[in-house]
Amino acid sequence: MVALTVNNIPIDIEGADDKPLLWALREDLGLLGPKYGCGVAQCGACRVLVDGESTPSCIVPLGSLAGASVVTIEGLPSTSGDLSIVQQAWVDEQVPQCGFCQPGFMIATTALLARTPRPTDAEIDEAITNICRCGTYPRIRRAIHRAADALSQS
Ligand code: FES
Ligand code: FES
Repeated sequence: MVALTVNNIPIDIEGADDKPLLWALREDLGLLGPKYGCGVAQCGACRVLVDGESTPSCIVPLGSLAGASVVTIEGLPSTSGDLSIVQQAWVDEQVPQCGFCQPGFMIATTALLARTPRPTDAEIDEAITNICRCGTYPRIRRAIHRAADALSQS
């Protein structure tokens, strides 16, 4: 059993120490935002924030998370209505196509903007290594700049 917080709720999760966080989130907690894509930390579909860092939950063992703070796409702080600034920018730019990869992109963006509030295109390309098979990269870049603008005014 591991004691941690998920989306700001203290919780004990039962399971083997080597169980990947992704499966604990999806199967035990019913948080289906983080997706399974590659399982080897390459695609980014499973990304969540672990103590504020964008982290591929498919390779993080439960046993390493005692006392950690995990935030999924479902738990991003809302600023207006139900959406975070990043999520609202995604809606405004109509980013998703199939949508499968998008939670991971929004998590990675949230972490990027926390440390680099006004990223350049080069900084975005370097920081956001997620994969989108639908090729929504141009809209993602616009959404990141839109979110950065909104955050600078908040
Ligand atoms: S499923 Fe975790 S990075 Fe692809
Ligand atoms: S929107 Fe379909 S994989 Fe990215």
